[in-house]
Amino acid sequence: MIRTIEWTEDGVQMIDQRLLPTEETYNTYKTVEEVAEAIRALVIRGAPAIGIATAMGIALGVNNLSTREGLEAEFKRICETLERTRPTARNLFWAVERMSEVLEANKHKSLEEIQKALTGEALRMHQEDIEINRRMGEFGQQLLPDQSTVLTHCNAGALATAGYGTALGVIRAAVENGKAVQVFADETRPFLQGARLTAWEMVKEGIPCTLITDNMSGYFMKAGRIQAVVVGADRIAANGDVANKIGTYTVAVLAKEHGIPFYVAAPLSTIDLKTPTGAEIPIEQRDPAEVTKIGGRIMAPATVGVENPAFDVTPNRLVAAIITEAGVARAPFVESLQELYDKAGESDDRSGD
Ligand code: MRU
Repeated sequence: MIRTIEWTEDGVQMIDQRLLPTEETYNTYKTVEEVAEAIRALVIRGAPAIGIATAMGIALGVNNLSTREGLEAEFKRICETLERTRPTARNLFWAVERMSEVLEANKHKSLEEIQKALTGEALRMHQEDIEINRRMGEFGQQLLPDQSTVLTHCNAGALATAGYGTALGVIRAAVENGKAVQVFADETRPFLQGARLTAWEMVKEGIPCTLITDNMSGYFMKAGRIQAVVVGADRIAANGDVANKIGTYTVAVLAKEHGIPFYVAAPLSTIDLKTPTGAEIPIEQRDPAEVTKIGGRIMAPATVGVENPAFDVTPNRLVAAIITEAGVARAPFVESLQELYDKAGESDDRSGD
């Protein structure tokens, strides 16, 4: 099992995803500022993993306090430090909301008890994420035909979550169910999550994987070599519009043209029912140097203009289904996503949480 992020006695430990696939290095972060910088710099990335890192960063920040006095103001500052890192990832804000609820429920307790409650919640979120991905995988794998090739974009695998993955979790579950599924991975410029991370995960696990550059997917779809597309999401609006890694929209348009189903696998924590459509999703703009350099080597004239949006929005009409841990939603998404939320809420009530 790939260890993406762990809570240790020394701090929050993360595999440095900037160094993969050539180096497997684990770094330990001891302050909320260090965790925030790790999220911003893409040491850890992928919406669910960012959510866990946020929860652990909050717990770490509060554990570093030595007095109960001024805790509320400190908590706010800690959350804001993390919130400034990656604006598109819904799970970051979901984690802040969940940790804030724990603080609220424990506000009359001692500092030590509050620290314990927040740490406990962060660890629970880590554990739950793996279980959620497995449930999502089981629902999603039913959509993949045996003997098929599935295209994925970016990395929505174990590295993007606490473990197992969302889109790659669906593929893993299909393989575990005995299906002969193979993967085509888009390399995913500019940060190369497909080449460096998805290919690494698949090779490590022995799932057949072919790496292609981003501009090759149309060629393979036209040749009848792709039977389905499965991607993850950074934020899904209430109407089913999906923000995911830049280039996802292009893949979805191509899939529509070739009659190939385009699936999105994401936990309910990525779905933002308060954002009505994709037009309201904030899109992170990143450093132009990610575009002008590859592996530190300059690839463009120094004075050229550069744009570097990290995500794009795929309109719901191009999405065949959204796979969640509560089931599979299909159009019309306003109703089907709400239904899944209600269903998940009911089962939470039944478990007495
Ligand atoms: O910039 P990144 O690497 O954080 O972008 C990640 C993606 O776009 C993933 O597809 C998404 O977060 C889902 S991860 C399960």
